[in-house]
Amino acid sequence: MSDRSLLVVVLAAGEGTRMKSRLPKVLHKVAGRSMLHHVLAATRAAGATRTAVVVGPGREDVAAEATRIVPDAQVFVQTERLGTAHAVLAARAALEQGADDVLVLYADTPLVRPETLARLRAPLAEGAAVAALGFEPEDPTGYGRLVTSGDELVAIREEKDATTAEKAIRFCNAGLMALAGKDALSILDRIGNANSKGEYYLTDAVEIARADGRPAVAAKADADEVAGVNSRIQLAEAEAILQQRLRRAAMAEGVTLIAPETVFFSADTVLGRDVIVEPNVVFGPGVTVGDDVVIHAFCHLEGAHLEPGVSIGPYARLRPGTRLEAGVRIGNFVETKAAHIESGAKVNHLSYVGDAHVGAGANLGAGTITCNYDGFSKYRTEIGAGAFIGVNSALVAPVTIGAGAYVGTGAVITSDVPEDALAIARSRQVVKEGWAREFRAARAEAKKKA
Ligand code: UD1
Ligand code: CA
Repeated sequence: MSDRSLLVVVLAAGEGTRMKSRLPKVLHKVAGRSMLHHVLAATRAAGATRTAVVVGPGREDVAAEATRIVPDAQVFVQTERLGTAHAVLAARAALEQGADDVLVLYADTPLVRPETLARLRAPLAEGAAVAALGFEPEDPTGYGRLVTSGDELVAIREEKDATTAEKAIRFCNAGLMALAGKDALSILDRIGNANSKGEYYLTDAVEIARADGRPAVAAKADADEVAGVNSRIQLAEAEAILQQRLRRAAMAEGVTLIAPETVFFSADTVLGRDVIVEPNVVFGPGVTVGDDVVIHAFCHLEGAHLEPGVSIGPYARLRPGTRLEAGVRIGNFVETKAAHIESGAKVNHLSYVGDAHVGAGANLGAGTITCNYDGFSKYRTEIGAGAFIGVNSALVAPVTIGAGAYVGTGAVITSDVPEDALAIARSRQVVKEGWAREFRAARAEAKKKA
C-alpha cells in the first residue's frame, strides 16, 4: 500500500427523495450494512488516513453512523445544496489540514471496491492533478461525459451542458474523483456556477487543472461497481450485485452453496472451509462459521458464532449471542438467543433456548423451552454437562440443572435440580379401568330416552 497520506471526502448530503423514506438514503442497508458503512469500509481498506463526511442539515443520524464506523471521522454540514464542488468545500477545514491525495466519493455508491479506489488514486503519485472514474452504462442519459484525448482527460461535460457530439460519448463520469492534495483547494475555490443548473460542479476541476498545465486522467470501472442508488429499485439491484459477489467469494474460498441464488449473506459474514449451505438460508450481520459446518435448508442466523463441525437446521433460527461449540447439533424448528452451547450438545427438535448455558454433551429433548422472561426481566438457565432433558419440558428461569441430571418428560422445572439427580415434575397419571366403555354406554342410554 502507498505511503502517501489520503484524505477521503464522502458526500452524504443528498436528500434522497426518490427513496420515499423517513430514513436518510445513505443509511439504507445493502447486505446488512448501511451504504455509508460500505463506502467507509472501502476507503479504509484503500488506506484512508483521514476521513471527512459531508452531511445535510440536521442529519445527526448520518453523522453518528459515520463516527460509529470511523471514530475519528470529521463530520461537516453542507447547509445549502449548491452542487458537488460546494459539498466538497464544506470539508474545507479537512482540506486545509493537507494530504498527499484527496479522494471524493458519494455515500450512495456502495459497491465500489478498494482496488478500484487504489487504481483511481495511482495517477496522483505520477503527477496527475485530477483523476476521474469512468464507466460505460447501458444508458448514459443523465451522466456527465468524459471527454478524452488519448490518455488525457480533457473535460467532464454534464448532460445539460453537453453538445450533441459530447452526448454521443458513452464513457461517463461515475462521480468518484481523486485530486492532488496540494492542488485541491486552489482548484475547488475557482469552480464557479455559470452553467445550466447554476450549481458548483466538481467536474469543472478537470478543465481548471488543465488550464494550470496540470494533467487530468480517467480510470475505468465496471458499471456494476459504480451504480448509484437513488430509489428502492436501485437499492434492490445493488443488493443483487453484492449478493452475487459475496456468494462467489464464499465459493472461491471453499464453501459449497447448493443453490447460491437462494442464499443471502451479510457483508461481514465469515465462513470456514468445507462449509455446506443448503438452499434458502439468510445470514444476518455478525455471523462467523467454522470449518465443516453444515447449514441445512431454511435457516436464519444473526449474531451467531458456529465452531467447526456444527450442524443446524433445517428451519433453525439462531439469534444474536448464540455460540455453538464444536459438533453441536441444532435441529428443526429450534430457536436460540444469547445461548452458549458447549461441544457435542444436541437440541434437535422444536425448542427455544434463550439466555442459557448448556454444558458439553447435554441432550435437550423435543419441545424443551427455557422460560426466560416474565414480562419484565430476563433470567438465565444453566444446564450442566451431560444433562438429559425429557421432551416437552419447561425450564422456568432462573434455574440450574446440574451436570448429568435427568429431567423427566413433560416437566415444569421451577427449582434447581442437583447433579446426577432425576427430577419429575408432572402430575401423576391416573388410570380408571373400563371408564370409557361405561361413559359411552351411559351417553347412548341418555340419547335413546331423549
Ligand atoms: C454527478 C456528476 C456527474 C456524474 C453523476 C454520477 C457533478 C456536477 N456531476 O451528477 O458528472 O455522472 O454524479 O452519478 O458532479 N451532493 C451533495 N451536495 C450537493 C450536491 C450533491 O452532497 O450539493 C451529493 C449527493 O448526495 C450525491 C452526489 O453528491 O451523492 C452526486 O450528486 P447529484 O446531484 O446526484 O449529482 P448528479 O447530477 O447525478
Ligand atoms: Ca446522481
